[in-house]
Amino acid sequence: MIRTILHYPDKRLREIGKKIEEISPELQVLIDDMAETMYAAPGVGLAATQVGHALQLFIVDIAEEDKPSDLRVFINPQIVERQGKVSWQEGCLSFPGVQENIDRAEKVKVRAQDRDGNGFELEADGLLAVAIQHECDHLQGVLMIDHMGPLKKRLTHRKLTKG
Ligand code: NI
Repeated sequence: MIRTILHYPDKRLREIGKKIEEISPELQVLIDDMAETMYAAPGVGLAATQVGHALQLFIVDIAEEDKPSDLRVFINPQIVERQGKVSWQEGCLSFPGVQENIDRAEKVKVRAQDRDGNGFELEADGLLAVAIQHECDHLQGVLMIDHMGPLKKRLTHRKLTKG
């Protein structure tokens, strides 16, 4: 089922995701629905907080359109290492029509659990590293607008709150 994606300035986007203690059937449904929602949008990442569930959960799929899907599920993720710097033009499904260059670490190492609750560690760079950092921000209630300079911040806020 496609879920409603919350748009800025919805206050629920500021909630901090709670740690997931149990891999329940309801959680599996949420993950499937998030994937369906992300692919329909379309987007390369979606955090549970963006569909109104304040949980430590996000999904990412950075496969190109003409390639097989490569869905990755991150439960209780933690970025344990960051290296280098990169500026990447990002978008966000909660900020329709907005794009901005945001400074991120070039490489990250992340620890998380997969959809079955198995722990894993992943080293990522490029788009995957950027997507992981963007989605980890969501789980802390941090949004792309928080990374913008004052002028762009004001323009973005105005664009998404008018009418
Ligand atoms: Ni986002």
